[in-house]
Amino acid sequence: MNSMKKFCIRTFGCQMNENDSEKLSGMLNSMGYIEVDEPEDADVVIFNTCCVRQSAEEKVYGHLGVLKGLKRDKPEMIVVVCGCMPQQPSVVEKITSKYKHVDIIFGTHNLHEFPVMLAEVEKNRNKIVDIKSEAGDVAEGIPVNHKDSIKAWVSAMYGCNNFCTYCVVPYVRGRERSRKPEEIIKEVKELAEQGYKEITLLGQNVNSYGKEFDVSFADILRMLNEIEGVERIRFMTSHPKDLSDDLIYAIRDCDNVVESIHLPFQAGSDEVLNRMNRKYTKEYYCSLVEKVKSIIPNISFSTDIIVGFPGETEEDFEDTLDVVKKVRFGLAYTFLYSPRIGTKAAEYEEQISDSIKKDRFNRLLELQNSICLEINEAMVGEVVNVLVEGMSKNNSSIFTGRTRDNKIVNFKGETQKGEIVIVKITSAHTWSLNGEMI
Ligand code: 5AD
Ligand code: SF4
Repeated sequence: MNSMKKFCIRTFGCQMNENDSEKLSGMLNSMGYIEVDEPEDADVVIFNTCCVRQSAEEKVYGHLGVLKGLKRDKPEMIVVVCGCMPQQPSVVEKITSKYKHVDIIFGTHNLHEFPVMLAEVEKNRNKIVDIKSEAGDVAEGIPVNHKDSIKAWVSAMYGCNNFCTYCVVPYVRGRERSRKPEEIIKEVKELAEQGYKEITLLGQNVNSYGKEFDVSFADILRMLNEIEGVERIRFMTSHPKDLSDDLIYAIRDCDNVVESIHLPFQAGSDEVLNRMNRKYTKEYYCSLVEKVKSIIPNISFSTDIIVGFPGETEEDFEDTLDVVKKVRFGLAYTFLYSPRIGTKAAEYEEQISDSIKKDRFNRLLELQNSICLEINEAMVGEVVNVLVEGMSKNNSSIFTGRTRDNKIVNFKGETQKGEIVIVKITSAHTWSLNGEMI
């Protein structure tokens, strides 16, 4: 019987939260805890939460409800809720009154203090609710337990100043703060030494990086491009209003920066974009894409789209479809608008009915899927660069990996995880490609 204490983390939401969970895991490892997959086997169960849409919050409450029984059988188990949800006072009220089996609640601004909170609750068996309303200095030196051995996320900046009217992120993640360039470079160098091949720089609005230091995001890309061993550099998310020419040229000129930009457009209609406070028009977005395509001909775009924003008419929605047709995104994350307490758009009149939202969502998905398939079919016969991620889940004689623009490729050949190989594409599906190593 292993006497080491065990923890289990359930992560909801975006890559930023995934990266925070890797930090929680790193801190717990330093405290002598080991990670397990199931709450049943754990002494500490952590829910790292997201509140960007109602559905994410409901999932967390569902999990918390299920855990009530387990805590009854194992009263010494410590239950933790952290991340974005507790930054909203109404959530803390609900958890403390209805989910009394939760022992520790903290938010997004004091992740680094978790070991102290846990040690206190272990010793005194008390409860802790510690939510900071504002971010302090950027915390450095937190151990990170990366989930993968060849691809790693690295935070470049935190928070957001944009206040898109549908979005709760600026309220729960605070204002923009950038990590010092030397901290980012140090972390990426260490990852390269450990054999990491792909780095994804994270930030809610990563291309407004560096206002504090007079170092632009393009400068960071150029510096990281020089680090030996890192073969691919990605970044997300970019706001169209902040995609500077300097950044476009840095993507073109840095060999290791992939030709792929995640550029959410959210909606096609100027009316809707204005009410979303996105600060650009359909025309601006489409001409920005055209400009990037003319500078980097093999660029691919991915995007986020919201359907059913308050007041969205059929005509407005057709503008969204029109942008999708014009840009031809390699990948689009599509969302049903979800009203969030405290945001401006939640107060707007003319909320759209669920049935109209779902109908528009399905039409958008159908269009995007057909474009994905067309793009993939056009790749048959092409030769691509693939970073090998391992064996395919469904077939242990087939390898799986990703192209520079993040497409999944399943292929036959002799190789191993972490290698970059040349693959000829032989057939295409909507979400993946098949090929053979050459
Ligand atoms: N409802 C639906 N989607 C949302 N997003 C952000 N807030 C909401 C909301 N209230 C989407 C945006 C953003 C992505 C991360 O989540 O498309 O780019
Ligand atoms: Fe939310 Fe807009 Fe900031 Fe993105 S840019 S995190 S959508 S407020």
